[in-house]
Amino acid sequence: MLTTLSVAVAALGGTALGLPNPTATDDTPVRILPQFWEFNITSLSGPGCPDFGLTDRGPFVTRPTFGLNTVDGSEIYYWHFAYPSLRTSIEPGTPSASIWCETTLSYAELDSNMVPVAKPGYHLKLHKNGTAMLASYELDDGVEAKWTFTYFPEGKREVVDTIIIDGPRSGNSYRDISPVNGLVQWPLPNCGLGTIRYRTQLTLTAKKDGARGSVSSEKVEYKDQAGWYGVQQGVSYDWEQCSS
Ligand SMILES: *[C@@H]1O[C@H](CO)[C@@H](O)[C@H](O)[C@H]1NC(C)=O
Ligand SMILES: *[C@@H]1O[C@H](CO)[C@@H](O)[C@H](O)[C@H]1NC(C)=O
Repeated sequence: MLTTLSVAVAALGGTALGLPNPTATDDTPVRILPQFWEFNITSLSGPGCPDFGLTDRGPFVTRPTFGLNTVDGSEIYYWHFAYPSLRTSIEPGTPSASIWCETTLSYAELDSNMVPVAKPGYHLKLHKNGTAMLASYELDDGVEAKWTFTYFPEGKREVVDTIIIDGPRSGNSYRDISPVNGLVQWPLPNCGLGTIRYRTQLTLTAKKDGARGSVSSEKVEYKDQAGWYGVQQGVSYDWEQCSS
């Protein structure tokens, strides 16, 4: 069972706040999570995210969007990050196309005044359930869309998740999750705060002559301008208690 944590908190400011499950009751399973937490985007590079630091473009900027978590004791958390410029297409004569973005996030555990806690209690562990991607597709038969998510844990080997979609596929609002082939989770080096870095790549390939394809997100209007809401990458995690 999934529940939404918080929708578009500070969506324009590049910050996302996590809130504990507001409907917890005595018969819900024991849960291991801080009171509040936050992710900020601290840097972006690549053609799929040329908008770092812009704040007044409404839904058109790369930004944190919403959190999602299980409430059945399995402790699967996601935070989603929207990338309006991470989109591409192919057509006859251009049988492949690719675009990427590299993101750095900062993470902190917060107290009830929404400032980093003096004595953090929880260690964030990334990659609880692979990587999710919410996107729109128009893929002919014979077109492959491939998402490659490369995480760069500090001092450790890269971890790569992939999602492969084979056309035909058409429509908005797909949510796909990378297969978890032997779960690899890693805690951030420090208790209560840290840095997360990953690269997101989208590649479209036509395996049949003349095939067309595009991957994007829903069209939205903001201040009389049309734009893309952004494909949304869901980064998964959970926590363990810090050893004191
Ligand atoms: C996020 O950014 C805000 C505003 O700059 C800052 O106050 C906060 O400490 C940052 N949090 C993290 C986790 O980097
Ligand atoms: C966890 O990942 C699997 C695919 O590996 C997926 O079927 C399942 O829905 C995911 N769980 C959540 C809570 O997203």
